[in-house]
Amino acid sequence: MEFLGKKIGEGAHRVVYEYLPDPEWVAKVLKAGDGNAKEIEHFAMLKANKLGHLVAPCRRLGKDPDVILMVRAERAEFEEGEMVKVPLFFPDFKPDNYGMLGGRLVAIDYERMEAPTGCMRSVEWRKRGIQW
Ligand SMILES: Nc1ncnc2c1ncn2[C@@H]1O[C@H](COP(=O)(O)OP(=O)(O)O)[C@@H](O)[C@H]1O
Ligand SMILES: [Mg+2]
Repeated sequence: MEFLGKKIGEGAHRVVYEYLPDPEWVAKVLKAGDGNAKEIEHFAMLKANKLGHLVAPCRRLGKDPDVILMVRAERAEFEEGEMVKVPLFFPDFKPDNYGMLGGRLVAIDYERMEAPTGCMRSVEWRKRGIQW
């Protein structure tokens, strides 16, 4: 995969790299599960509900869901304990799964989500993860 640049991050299901042809995007390479296909599906569903602004947009690269592209977000940095607003429909909240786009907090890992609604909730930002 010659279009992959430096590794940016890794979770249980995907390894994420710079996308060399366009630095505004990252390439998410599947390790396990069906999270890439789910993310593509969820983004379409969110857009249809006018909620696309809550996540970093993603798109297919080719037919193969083993690699998808997502708009590259900046690291989200808040003070420990600061209150931030997140969508109610994501089942868990870990700072690693969020980033900043145009000054807004967006989800960058949304392979799992509940039915989308516009409802938000305030949570305390904790580097070690939020307890709901
Ligand atoms: N759109 C993005 N912009 C910047 N970094 C990202 C983006 N998507 C993922 N990453 C980085 O890669 C890591 C793993 O991606 P993630 O989607 O959370 O994979 P997994 O489903 O395996 O948890 C993230 O924690 C983050 O550091
Ligand atoms: Mg993750």
